Amino acid sequence: SNSNQIFINGKSYEVDSWTNVTPKIISYIGKNLHLQKSHPLSLLRERITNFFYFHYKNNRGNPLFSVYDNLYPIVTVEQNFDNLLVPEDHVSRNKSDCYYLNSKYLLRGHSSAHENELIQSGLDNFLIFSDVYRRDQIDSSHYPVFHQVEGVRLFLRHELFSLNPDAEGSIDVFEKGVRTETKQEVHTYDAARVVEYSLKSSLTALVRHLFGQNAEVRWVDAYFPFTHPSFELEMKFNGEWMELLGCGVLEHQTLVKAGVEDKIGWAFGIGLERLAMILYNIPDIRLFWSTDPGFLNQFNVSDINTNVKYKPISIYPPCPNDISFWLPGNADEFSDNDFYDLVRTVAGDVVEQVNLVDKFYHPKKKLYSRTYRIVYRHMEKTLTQEEVNKVHRLVEEAAERSLEVKIR
Ligand code: PHE
Repeated sequence: SNSNQIFINGKSYEVDSWTNVTPKIISYIGKNLHLQKSHPLSLLRERITNFFYFHYKNNRGNPLFSVYDNLYPIVTVEQNFDNLLVPEDHVSRNKSDCYYLNSKYLLRGHSSAHENELIQSGLDNFLIFSDVYRRDQIDSSHYPVFHQVEGVRLFLRHELFSLNPDAEGSIDVFEKGVRTETKQEVHTYDAARVVEYSLKSSLTALVRHLFGQNAEVRWVDAYFPFTHPSFELEMKFNGEWMELLGCGVLEHQTLVKAGVEDKIGWAFGIGLERLAMILYNIPDIRLFWSTDPGFLNQFNVSDINTNVKYKPISIYPPCPNDISFWLPGNADEFSDNDFYDLVRTVAGDVVEQVNLVDKFYHPKKKLYSRTYRIVYRHMEKTLTQEEVNKVHRLVEEAAERSLEVKIR
């Protein structure tokens, strides 16, 4: 029957025990902020694209990288995880972290979900700009939908060692060796080092292109299931190191899964909101969804390299309200993200943050309690206490109804 199906863009998805996507989240599909004229995410997309177009040309003088910016966000578990060698029991697969349509389909959690199909189609150098979806905490830098740019570059042996044509005969890309901290078992040390150097120099140059030559950056070792070695790039911002991106040398097995045996390459993934917030001084991630001309007009510039600094229209006061409840009997099935999603659905963008402020177990009642502080703050006006109370009551009612909690 129809009640057991979700319809999105004319396609139906069978509801099962994995289904946790909400109508609110589905409503973000197709918004494509990164393609919206004079939106800060769109400006940033153009600047990143230009960097790659100008810095990397093929031997006919054309841009080396192809750009994909409108790939459909509903992907399979295979695309989002299996193709990327994410272990069966890895936390990133959990229902509490992803928006599943059902056990087979989900909203992509990262642009890496498209690496396999694009590599399989024969591409060696490409960028993907896309909206990605993750269940997460609520604060000024987290939103369940955000945007990423992914970059992939693959090399054949002669491309990797093209600067040293004399050495081409004597330097190999592949060997049957051992995995170390700096390379995979199938790669030679030389090849792994050259790819790592190409990756790091490209990304350092990109960050300097965006933030200026004096940007202070550092490399930190990291782990991703589909790259080795893996790194994160951090930048000093307001005296603190901020993580900007994840990257690494692609696991050879991910290429083999895409039908490529003779290449080695790198990949990176960057969150665009984080970058745009630093670049344009945007203080709250909800602003990216604002349709207020007072926000958008500030980014209506004719030169994409204009150094826009966002000026807040004005600051409206925060209204904190606490909510406390007893969890239902099956308390271990409850995740904080279940509550955060409910708040998003019911209260929407008037919520600035939600923080867990207290949890305890009542041994006599044999019940678990949670208290969250919800900070209500409108982006464009002052909220009255009456308005806040009304929304807060809706949140309480919805929590009792759909999470089966008991308000204390
Ligand atoms: N997909 C990773 C993330 O979203 C980032 C990444 C991309 C890491 C490519 C390595 C290579 O966190």
